[in-house]
Amino acid sequence: MKKFIITSIVHLSFIFLMAFVPQTKQEKKPVDTGKGKTAQVSYKKDIVPLMKKYCLPCHTEDMMNPSELYLDTYDGLMSGGKHGKALIAGKPDSSNLIKKINLKPPFGDPMPMKRKTAFPADTLKMLRTWIEQGAKNN
Ligand code: HEC
Repeated sequence: MKKFIITSIVHLSFIFLMAFVPQTKQEKKPVDTGKGKTAQVSYKKDIVPLMKKYCLPCHTEDMMNPSELYLDTYDGLMSGGKHGKALIAGKPDSSNLIKKINLKPPFGDPMPMKRKTAFPADTLKMLRTWIEQGAKNN
């Protein structure tokens, strides 16, 4: 009888192991492939320094910018400016933020205003990717 109980416990533990091991493996997979494709762009780590370097201090309330677009906070960026929403999550090409960085924006001057050098292509790509990934406050 004792032997029967011990073998039952061993068998049961084995069944439990088999049930849980494949599940934990599956959970890990999507995270790995996601990172391999395009790295997640972070608002705090990537976008904030970008704004500081290229868009501030012009786009702050203190500057009384006629665009009424404030890029020093996430909420400001999401509230948009005089021409409505500055960005549409998931759609960089429809976002004013990206349109204004082009050399021929639909209104006003190209951003960053009074630039002396071209806006770096990889920085623009990072901003586009962040919008594509949903423009999260991450
Ligand atoms: C030297 C100051 C200056 C800098 C630097 C600057 N801007 Fe601007 N921005 C302005 C002014 C002034 C306007 C309003 C006139 C216009 O639309 O051209 C404006 C307008 C805009 C608008 C239009 C908002 C609306 O709804 O009307 C967007 C979007 C914008 N800027 C994005 C940016 C981004 C992104 C950066 C950084 C990459 C940037 N700007 C850097 C001065 C600046």
